[in-house]
Amino acid sequence: MRRVFLWAARNSWLKAHLPGLWFMKRAVRRFMPGETMDDALKAAAPLQAAGIATLYTRLGENLESLSEADAVVAHYLELTDRIVAAGIHGEISVKPTQLGLDHDPAACLANVVRLAEHAAALGSFLWIDMEGSAYTDATIELYEQVKAVQPRTGICLQAYLKRTAADIERLLPLDPAIRLVKGAYDEPAAIAYRDRRAVDANYLGLAVRFLLDGRGKPIRLGLGTHDVALIEQIEAQVAAAGVARDAFEIEMLYGIRANEQIRMAKAGYHVLTLIAYGEHWYPWYMRRLAERPANVTFAIRSMLP
Ligand code: FDA
Repeated sequence: MRRVFLWAARNSWLKAHLPGLWFMKRAVRRFMPGETMDDALKAAAPLQAAGIATLYTRLGENLESLSEADAVVAHYLELTDRIVAAGIHGEISVKPTQLGLDHDPAACLANVVRLAEHAAALGSFLWIDMEGSAYTDATIELYEQVKAVQPRTGICLQAYLKRTAADIERLLPLDPAIRLVKGAYDEPAAIAYRDRRAVDANYLGLAVRFLLDGRGKPIRLGLGTHDVALIEQIEAQVAAAGVARDAFEIEMLYGIRANEQIRMAKAGYHVLTLIAYGEHWYPWYMRRLAERPANVTFAIRSMLP
């Protein structure tokens, strides 16, 4: 089932036809407050009232031409201004291919630096998402270059990739901010753990080691997972070494385990909800369906009047 949805996420015919269907639009609302910047910003208020900060990402991936990146940059500059003006505890998270990585890595770097400097000037922070493995090297190089210019930046790394331990080792001297996720793409067994338990074990080991190795340094770790049992295991292991729960953050997606997000914020964890929005939600939504069969039942129910 997972592979079918990940295939559907990449299929261009389905991508052109499915998003227009009314029941698809209805189903995606569970994970997305709306398609516009206004919708995304409005969704922050109840979260902030519950002590939860927000991350924002405008959905969309590879560009047809480099010039399209200008509109993406303009959008995120405006979004950062509006987050700060509204007094929202919010940060943005961007996909390198949406900023020109496929077309011109130097132009992509300039775009990311521009967004990072703008965010930092306003007291905010910029995150870089991680896409499929074809982009891992280029994204890590991009982060190294951005981080050298603007420290208030972070990168997402995926625990299903066998290389991630070495990538963390490589980034550690930079005092990085890392959002650790399990990984959302369909990667081959040669480079990725495909068994759930192996991914979870790697996630646990990577998170614990990063928190312990980063003690006393200005690192930041976002546990980008809805797996509360795993978060609790990480917390228990680092607590034994004197690292408290405020040494890391919990980052979950809008609409997933919402009650758990509120409960954890009340219990003293730093919780952030990632709000994804925009018109180009189709591949992203397919990846959410791939993660959990119960979401497919929900999507089918949305087709009923
Ligand atoms: P897992 O899939 O094991 O789920 C644990 C539990 O969480 C499930 O049992 C279920 O209860 C709940 N759950 C998980 N997914 C759900 C869903 N879709 N619907 C309903 N319940 C669900 N990936 C990537 O490759 N690059 C990136 O840049 C990012 N960025 C990112 C940011 C943030 C803030 C998050 C939370 C996630 C990402 N991801 C990502 C996605 C990530 O790689 C992963 O695919 C999902 O988080 C699902 O995996 P879990 O860690 O939640 O565990």
